[in-house]
Amino acid sequence: MKRIALIFLIVSTIIFVRCSGSQEEEATFELPVTKEELGGRLFLDPILSSDGKVSCASCHIPAYAFADTVALSKGVGGQLGSRNTPSAMNLSAHDIFFHDGRAESLEQQAAGPIENPVEMNLPISEAVKKLSSNKNYLAAFKKLYNEAPNRDNLLDALASFERTLETSNTPFDKFMHDDTTAISESAKRGQKIFNIKGKCFDCHFGPDFTRDDFKNIGLYNGKDLNDVGRYGVTKDTADIGKFKVPGLRNVAVTAPYMHNGMFKTLTEVIDYYNEPQKFVKGSINMDTTMLTPLNLTDQDKTDLLEFLKTLTDEQFKGVAKNK
Ligand code: HEC
Ligand code: HEC
Repeated sequence: MKRIALIFLIVSTIIFVRCSGSQEEEATFELPVTKEELGGRLFLDPILSSDGKVSCASCHIPAYAFADTVALSKGVGGQLGSRNTPSAMNLSAHDIFFHDGRAESLEQQAAGPIENPVEMNLPISEAVKKLSSNKNYLAAFKKLYNEAPNRDNLLDALASFERTLETSNTPFDKFMHDDTTAISESAKRGQKIFNIKGKCFDCHFGPDFTRDDFKNIGLYNGKDLNDVGRYGVTKDTADIGKFKVPGLRNVAVTAPYMHNGMFKTLTEVIDYYNEPQKFVKGSINMDTTMLTPLNLTDQDKTDLLEFLKTLTDEQFKGVAKNK
């Protein structure tokens, strides 16, 4: 049911954006019934960018589990950011956002991209003005919040929408609910490798496969890999090269991978974890669990990949990658 509601929301929102075109036209729209629906409209509407061309969905593409398909996304004027766009799904149970965890709520997070000069480049005060002078949005905010658009209700609407983006209609979830045939024998072996031999479970656990923590998996060497990650927020040298442990739901849909999008496929990710030192020279501050090669066999790697693919929600089956 949840999935149908989500698809309905996305489709109706796309129709809305298409029909209303640029905000100048101000075609009337049917007023959203919920804050979530209003947030969904805003998420897809380029009105929140300085050039009226970039929406949240330009980078967080709904059909790709709200992630992008390129290493670095383009913001206003085609400017490139410095980090990979993560999925905006399955975040409602968590409280650290961005690769370096610099936001602690979805509301606080949402202000970031709107104001970021290389993303949407619009001060929130300007965004609020644009929405207030648009008769559709003005009416929608008045109806749902009993007031004109302002910083708080704008961020609340976006965050409320994002909290609806949960996915659990996956072969893995069916398997966990006692449908032993929902995943292949290879994927079952892969789950064991994920938990034990591959040590993935040390960092990726819980319903969304993240421990809500920051870890250094060896992708900082101060040379060609020079994003300091969490250290940039805390200035604590222990945090150099640490990044948020991302959830892994729909991971077969959200390539490329890591904070910089350096791995194009899950196969590359698995090869990396198997023997990090082979790929990155001179890693600084790498987590101790990563120091010994995993010695995965080819069969182990195939099984692990099959397991990761069971985390794809039915709605994204068509775009999930095979490797
Ligand atoms: C130009 C591309 C771009 C646009 C536009 C954009 N984002 Fe993002 N988004 C990113 C990137 C890149 C990151 C990671 C940045 C970082 O970690 O420093 C990110 C991170 C996020 C995260 C954190 C996910 C996590 O797992 O921590 C959320 C949530 C999010 N964006 C929502 C939004 C919303 C809401 C909007 C619109 C108001 C938006 N984004 C607009 C590229 C974009
Ligand atoms: C020491 C903790 C740790 C261990 C062990 C670990 N991971 Fe990760 N994983 C992370 C962190 C941190 C990131 C994010 C790194 C970055 O953004 O640069 C990550 C990123 C990923 C990504 C990329 C997700 C994305 O959307 O970009 C995948 C896939 C992944 N891990 C799978 C695995 C698998 C499979 C294993 C076991 C073989 C594993 N991880 C073991 C901490 C860990």
